[in-house]
Amino acid sequence: MTTKPLSGKVALVTGGARGIGRATAEALADMGADIAIVDIHGGEAASTAAAIAAASGVRAAGAEANVADEAACSTAHARLAGELGDIGILVNNAGIMPQAVEPHHEQPLSNFNEMLAIHIGGAAHFSHLCIPAMRKAGFGRIVNLSSVLGILGLPNRLGYTVAKTGMKGLTRGLAVENARHGITVNAVAPGYILTDVLRDRVERGRLDYHLYAERTPVGRWGRPEEIARVIAFLAHPGSGFITGVVWPVDGGYTMRGDPGEDIGPCDA
Ligand SMILES: NC(=O)c1ccc[n+]([C@@H]2O[C@H](COP(=O)([O-])OP(=O)(O)OC[C@H]3O[C@@H](n4cnc5c(N)ncnc54)[C@H](O)[C@@H]3O)[C@@H](O)[C@H]2O)c1
Repeated sequence: MTTKPLSGKVALVTGGARGIGRATAEALADMGADIAIVDIHGGEAASTAAAIAAASGVRAAGAEANVADEAACSTAHARLAGELGDIGILVNNAGIMPQAVEPHHEQPLSNFNEMLAIHIGGAAHFSHLCIPAMRKAGFGRIVNLSSVLGILGLPNRLGYTVAKTGMKGLTRGLAVENARHGITVNAVAPGYILTDVLRDRVERGRLDYHLYAERTPVGRWGRPEEIARVIAFLAHPGSGFITGVVWPVDGGYTMRGDPGEDIGPCDA
């Protein structure tokens, strides 16, 4: 029997109950990692973990926590590491989309603060909890979820833009700080991915699917598995010479320079 590349390692995915996080947990399980899922929806974290364990034969467990809550993160981490073992791979994925799409001065400041607390605070909390054991083991992989909005400017989404830009600073700082300890820290910056949260907005007419598909050079939205594939690559033990990188996985969205000329059929 061949050993899988992540056999004997434990991967913790925040926001792993659904969407990109769930696809990532599945991809890491396929590589042999035991899976710890932390999600604000505790029931779904547990059911996703059970489904992954049944499909992949790895050990998996879920715990409920709001990643913005330091004490809740600490409790969830202790429970999961106690059950599965020290965390060797951390994916800071938990996040929310902008609740209101309005100019900064017309939104309550609480919207802005909540974005930073969940995205940056959550990633800072779990990195703080997981790095000591990674240093002790001389191995660690941390992957943070940024966004095309961490690279480009888009009006009326200031909190999300600042949070996703901040994820790049968190990535660089932790990468340099931990580089001599076998720990890599990278970020992926997805383009538009059709997860439930955005599908719902498309269906309610709050987001124009075709506008964003047309703006994306490959002419379509991405799939959660296409982000998970890159995260899994970065988590691989053989990816130890890649650190501090922000990897756009966006169908070319951020490299497109033309003002919107017709470049061919959409939704190819
Ligand atoms: N979908 C996209 O187009 C896209 C693009 C760029 C970046 N991203 C980023 O990817 C990540 C995942 O997005 P998604 O589309 O899969 O979203 P999703 O809503 O499908 O999944 C997010 C998961 O995070 C959990 N979560 C939300 N807030 C939480 C909190 N405070 N504490 C713990 N868990 C929490 C949710 O319950 C859910 O399971 C997010 O960080 C998002 O900003 C998504």
